[in-house]
Amino acid sequence: MNRPPKIQTQPTLLLLSASGWKDYELLDSGAGKKLERYGPYTFVRPEAQAVWRPALPEERWQTAHAVFNPTSEESGGRWQFRKQIETTWVMQYKGLKFQAHAAASRHMGVFPEQAVHWDWIGERIRQANRPVKVLNLFGYTGLATLAAAEAGAHVTHVDASKKAIGIGRQNQLLSGLQDRPVRWLVDDVYKFVRREVRRGSHYDGLILDPPKFGRGPEGQVWEFFESLPNLLEVCRSLLSRQPLFIVLTAYAIRASALSIYYALQEMVSGLGGELETGELAIHERSAGRYLSTAIFTRWSAQE
Ligand SMILES: C[S@@+](CC[C@H](N)C(=O)[O-])C[C@H]1O[C@@H](n2cnc3c(N)ncnc32)[C@H](O)[C@@H]1O
Repeated sequence: MNRPPKIQTQPTLLLLSASGWKDYELLDSGAGKKLERYGPYTFVRPEAQAVWRPALPEERWQTAHAVFNPTSEESGGRWQFRKQIETTWVMQYKGLKFQAHAAASRHMGVFPEQAVHWDWIGERIRQANRPVKVLNLFGYTGLATLAAAEAGAHVTHVDASKKAIGIGRQNQLLSGLQDRPVRWLVDDVYKFVRREVRRGSHYDGLILDPPKFGRGPEGQVWEFFESLPNLLEVCRSLLSRQPLFIVLTAYAIRASALSIYYALQEMVSGLGGELETGELAIHERSAGRYLSTAIFTRWSAQE
């Protein structure tokens, strides 16, 4: 526990890409859009990173079941359905089953690039071979929670949205994991972690996927750059005597992977272990390009 941290002042930036999907594919990308398959359906959504040309012909893009047409407000826009699809449908990643849907927010009920973290979290828990407690903050679809529960952990899942908690619970049932110990809590993350410190609670694994901006159930404001340092400081007090892992992912913020690398490095100072940082990306089928979707930093007790 008191080993000096392995400080890498010039970290190597990694590119992580999930390779175990059957129900999801990035078929093509380019011209500010992406063409993806979620289960039996294909969708066209805006993708600001795709500043290159599509590899597939326009006719292939035209066969998509639905297209999300953005408006000028941030995240604004609406779906245009070209073919009939179910309102919700079931998708699978290894042992996890979950509900997908074309949401008004343009999201699909799953962030496929996160699967690489689900595998990694599962491995850490299985290899520990002891009871493991995990805290998932900003948990949304609950898939990271369920990956941890499937691997044998007791999981506490926190999200401000009652609807998101409902989706997580439903995914637990779909995955046949209803007997696994998961606490689903509608709460503000910052309020929750401070309460947990007062109660003397401890966790072996932490998963954090904070948005750029969010609100707790009572309107508490979450602002990434202002709120993250305090949240990480409080979370440090929640680590057990033998912590196993921390995963921090961030979407849609103007920050480099280095920002969250140094923030997490500060938090795990004195714990030894290993930090990794970089981008989560999706491998495109048409031309083999990697489409970056998020930045991440993760810490593991194992070197
Ligand atoms: C980027 S999503 C997380 C995605 C998740 N990792 C997944 O794979 O499904 C952010 C989530 O944070 C929640 N949120 C935003 N502000 C919050 C707050 N102050 N307290 C708790 N949850 C919050 C939102 O309801 C949303 O579900």
